[in-house]
Amino acid sequence: MTRLKTTADDTHAREAAARAVLEEIRDVRILGVGTGRAVAAVLALLDPHRCGIQAAVPSSEATRRLLIERGWTLVDPNTAGPLELYVDGADEFDTEGRLIKGGGGALVREKILASASRRFLVVAEEPKKVSLLGHFPIPVEVLPPARSLIARHLVALGGTPVLREGFVSDNGNPILDVTGLPRTDPAGLERTIKLWPGVLDVGLCTLRRADRIYVGRADGSVERIDPPRG
Ligand code: 5RP
Repeated sequence: MTRLKTTADDTHAREAAARAVLEEIRDVRILGVGTGRAVAAVLALLDPHRCGIQAAVPSSEATRRLLIERGWTLVDPNTAGPLELYVDGADEFDTEGRLIKGGGGALVREKILASASRRFLVVAEEPKKVSLLGHFPIPVEVLPPARSLIARHLVALGGTPVLREGFVSDNGNPILDVTGLPRTDPAGLERTIKLWPGVLDVGLCTLRRADRIYVGRADGSVERIDPPRG
């Protein structure tokens, strides 16, 4: 997995943001659930038998296991219909609601659930806030036979792709983590990479942005970012 180093401050910040997001997720019938530590912090605060949420749609096998362990009823994304709400973490975000996702390797299903949801909430700690996305390596999930081709395309764009060692996604694919790509037009970059045959998805989320970001700080305070719509 590709992760920023975590500290006790980050843990406190995530927990603060997780407490704050509860205000929005109590009256939901079916909840889409992302992947990672911020999501685990949210789930730690929700009792599936008391919170009023009837079922959850997991974005990864790790989240599926966590939800089952905690007694949640699960729904398949193909039968859930449009979701009211999807809650997830992020590896990087800006005040426009644009994100980098996929540090935990679940970007493909996470982006499917975000896209299937009326409202997309992100829970994250303040050090992940940036003015320009791309300090965090951008994950690209590729079909195995396209790995070298996509790596060459990424190098041609100025990037340095690194194969995520010892990792296979829930979909059975490798991930390339890419630094050094041009950072000024993340939406254009997302579109360009997505169009290459063999790419499952890229961890840039600029076309389906977050509707609200709960930004936790180590002192327990939480900033709510409501990105401009449109
Ligand atoms: C997994 C993701 C996660 O949302 C992202 O990596 C943030 O995780 P964490 O809350 O553990 O920092 O995109 O694919």
